[in-house]
Amino acid sequence: MTAPLLSESSEAVVRATAAVVAAHAEEITGVFYPSMLAAHPELLRVFNTGNQATGEQSKALAASVVAYAVQLIDPAAPPFDHVLRRIAHKHVSLGIRPDQYTIVGRHLLAAVGEVLGDAVTPEVAAAWDEVYWLFATQLVAEEARLYHLAGVDPALPVRPYRVVRRVQETAEVVSLVLEPADGEPLPEILPGQYVSVFADLPDGSRQPRQYTVSSTRSGARLQITVRRVRGRDGAPDGRVSAFLHDTVAVGDLLDVSTPSGDVVVEDAQAPLLLASAGAGITTVLPVLEHVARTQPQRKVVVAHADRTPADHALREAVLRVGAELDDFTALAWYEQPEPGDTTSRRGFMDLSEVPLPEGVQVFTCGPLPFMRQVRATVLSRGVPAAAVRYEVFGPDLWGAAPEPEVAPVPHQGVHPQRVGV
Ligand SMILES: Cc1cc2nc3c(=O)[nH]c(=O)nc-3n(C[C@H](O)[C@H](O)[C@H](O)COP(=O)(O)OP(=O)(O)OC[C@H]3O[C@@H](n4cnc5c(N)ncnc54)[C@H](O)[C@@H]3O)c2cc1C
Ligand code: HEM
Repeated sequence: MTAPLLSESSEAVVRATAAVVAAHAEEITGVFYPSMLAAHPELLRVFNTGNQATGEQSKALAASVVAYAVQLIDPAAPPFDHVLRRIAHKHVSLGIRPDQYTIVGRHLLAAVGEVLGDAVTPEVAAAWDEVYWLFATQLVAEEARLYHLAGVDPALPVRPYRVVRRVQETAEVVSLVLEPADGEPLPEILPGQYVSVFADLPDGSRQPRQYTVSSTRSGARLQITVRRVRGRDGAPDGRVSAFLHDTVAVGDLLDVSTPSGDVVVEDAQAPLLLASAGAGITTVLPVLEHVARTQPQRKVVVAHADRTPADHALREAVLRVGAELDDFTALAWYEQPEPGDTTSRRGFMDLSEVPLPEGVQVFTCGPLPFMRQVRATVLSRGVPAAAVRYEVFGPDLWGAAPEPEVAPVPHQGVHPQRVGV
């Protein structure tokens, strides 16, 4: 994707004001969401109330708009395509439509005016309006392409699926096996993709959440694997994960989106390292299933970190499918291994000593601090940055937070409280 050009006059204004907008970006998005959701309560059925409460969605939106503006005015800015693709996939899974960009634009630009006050002259407003609409146009185009490829009408973005089985994987993790209830076959699902599941909650509200398709082994059904999210320090428990654990039963219907997400494994020959922590394991099993089906000779190393072996969901399934590969290695780190366990390692994941095959591609999924550590370690061992991909189980704040030093820190990994996104 080539970035479009700002008009000359707007470019000068954006150059002059980018720093001040960046400095206030989170304040702006913090004003924007409440005002838009108050004016359009119907949007509460697509926006995630958890991410609103924690402010994560605000941060992700602010960071993306600032990064977009910077790459418009600075040819040396970091590549932006992957950010745009990630947002477009997320939007498509939620059924976002082109007409809704007018609503977001109006409230976002009003929030810029409210926060920056007199600094927003008509020229400044016009320049940022142009930035917004360039971004919006690129997103709308990419989303139109994705809807078209998936054969999905954005006015009808979900299909009903019936829960045909529940599997209690661990005390805190349940898998739901879902079958299309409209008699049509499963859509194409690439290994690593997620679906948005729309939950009609007992209080009458409707809330979407994304869940990785953790298995498609049967070919006619898809499986999601859900970790129960507990509230910490007085925060409430997760709404949708609790609903899926406690209320949804075999036979119930759930509205499910088209599979989305661009962090997928391609059919290259390169060996794979799949590094996961906690609920991040859900991205590992579908990749292994795919490799077992299509390239069983491909070398795969899986590395997983969890609190205890009892918390390690999908472990047996991963080992079973891994055994179908010609060259498969499974490594595990537990903060509290079982007494007498000589095969797994104690403590946090440390990839500094693990043999890395030549030309390895790394996929990582888990809490952000864990993924940063994985990335830093493999980069320090000579893996090129382009060979490392990650999936965030929430709004992507990777770019919004500072990067760590790129150096391995032995025996330092996931904070115990953060294992299991
Ligand atoms: C691409 C992607 C793939 C994913 N795949 C999986 C998967 O395979 N398996 C899986 O288990 N999860 C997955 N997730 C995460 C999943 O989408 C949900 O985020 C998760 O289930 C939590 O949703 P919830 O409704 O239970 O929690 P929410 O109700 O959304 O709460 C989330 C957090 O916000 C806090 N919070 C809520 N309200 C407040 C408040 N008022 N004040 C302070 N804090 C508050 C809660 O305590 C909790 O910690 C994925 C996410 C993404 C984006
Ligand atoms: C140029 C305009 C827009 C930008 C820059 C933008 C940006 C973003 C970003 C950065 C995310 C987080 C992606 C992630 O990392 O997961 C996101 C998610 C989302 N966007 Fe947009 N967006 C825009 C327009 C819209 C519109 C028009 C709507 C519809 C009303 C919308 C609804 C949503 C929703 C519901 C989510 C998921 C929120 C969550 O899970 O908390 N967005 N968007």
